[in-house]
Amino acid sequence: MKRVLFVCLGNICRSPAAEGVLRHLVTRAEPPLDVEIQSAGTIGYHIGKSPDQRMCTAASKRGYNLCSKAQQVTARDLDDFDLVIAMDRDNFRDLHRLSHQYRAEIKMLSDFLDESWPRDVPDPYYGGADGFETVLNMLEAAGPRIIDYLRSDRSKK
Ligand code: 4NP
Repeated sequence: MKRVLFVCLGNICRSPAAEGVLRHLVTRAEPPLDVEIQSAGTIGYHIGKSPDQRMCTAASKRGYNLCSKAQQVTARDLDDFDLVIAMDRDNFRDLHRLSHQYRAEIKMLSDFLDESWPRDVPDPYYGGADGFETVLNMLEAAGPRIIDYLRSDRSKK
């Protein structure tokens, strides 16, 4: 079994949506794929909270049920998970500051997108409804490629 952790800043908007979208795809994947999916934030302000209501609403309109509770990423997660996927370059940098020696492969969500997409998944927290749709569009585009990656030899761990 592979373990995947999505990481954003607060773990109430982007990474819970990533968790929900990938879980939805994995549940329906043929042939089946044995993957555990979680999400976490680089900050601890929202620990224990459900995802932001605006993200839940936008996700549920597309058929995704978001059910995580916010947690903060730890150095230990970088050993316990196989693949850790950061939503933006700040998250990516903060993950590398947590630990210098770790087992996980750390990637950016946009590593699973072509160059027509932005490098960072934009933080929707302080913006309007469009931001949540943009996040979901990026996650839906990347999801099948993450699954392909998990099935491939490139993801060796
Ligand atoms: P997220 O969005 O990183 O996608 O969960 C944010 C949530 C909360 C805050 C910032 C971004 N905040 O500053 O509280």
